[in-house]
Amino acid sequence: MLEVRNLAAGYPSGGRVLDGLNLSVPAGAIVAVLGRNGMGKTTLMRTICGLLQTSGGTIKLDGEPVSELPPHTRAQLGIGYVPQGREVFESFTVSENLTVGRIAKKGLWPKIPPHLLELFPILAERAQQRAGSLSGGQQQQLAIARALAGEPRLLLLDEPAEGIQPSIVHEIAGKLREIVDTTGLTVLMAEQNFDMVDGTADSIAFIDHGLIAEEGVAADGIRSDKVRLAKYLSL
Ligand SMILES: Nc1ncnc2c1ncn2[C@@H]1O[C@H](COP(=O)(O)OP(=O)(O)OP(=O)(O)O)[C@@H](O)[C@H]1O
Ligand SMILES: [Mg+2]
Repeated sequence: MLEVRNLAAGYPSGGRVLDGLNLSVPAGAIVAVLGRNGMGKTTLMRTICGLLQTSGGTIKLDGEPVSELPPHTRAQLGIGYVPQGREVFESFTVSENLTVGRIAKKGLWPKIPPHLLELFPILAERAQQRAGSLSGGQQQQLAIARALAGEPRLLLLDEPAEGIQPSIVHEIAGKLREIVDTTGLTVLMAEQNFDMVDGTADSIAFIDHGLIAEEGVAADGIRSDKVRLAKYLSL
């Protein structure tokens, strides 16, 4: 569904971060990109959703090139994005955050779909609470639900487990798997936390200095793969 070929991208002050990156994400799969701090995970996510321009290579969604399109057009085509650190609208209520995620996509009825609130009951319970006063785990669920409210076909998640306690990580991972299995959503997530990946992702791609060094590695049992963990995560 997502085909990234020979991708190059970076920052005016930081030089090229990605330089020749290749990655394929099949439809209906959860693929996790694992790699150390500073290896280019966020840069990759931002480049796919269009917040960062490519300086070379191609990004195709269902065979159509999207690399030249602005971020809002990519969102209309079905790319949803949950940034690292969540970035919910803190002064808005939970309900208002979900509505913003919903109306950002043209042609959608503004009402929040009931199945979304059933999936994340804590958000239904806290609908009128200011998002900034939610716990970290609750804010992450809100950020994911806000992106899902726009009915994406491809969801990009940047370190969804960061700063979240293990039981909530398991809960979020289970929900993600359920959404993918029931709706056919495709997920690309950047992670360093095995609790989010092991038993949730279908496969792993390891990123090393801006390149995918290995992809299609089975995610199940990844925490016992000492060779790869030492090589790509210094564990
Ligand atoms: N706005 C920026 N300007 C200049 N350089 C940047 C900028 N953002 C990131 N970089 C650099 O790009 C490289 C990749 O950073 P990136 O944030 O993509 O890594 P990451 O894999 O997401 O790391 P982490 O696990 O810490 O989130 C780093 O060397 C970083 O310093
Ligand atoms: Mg990052």
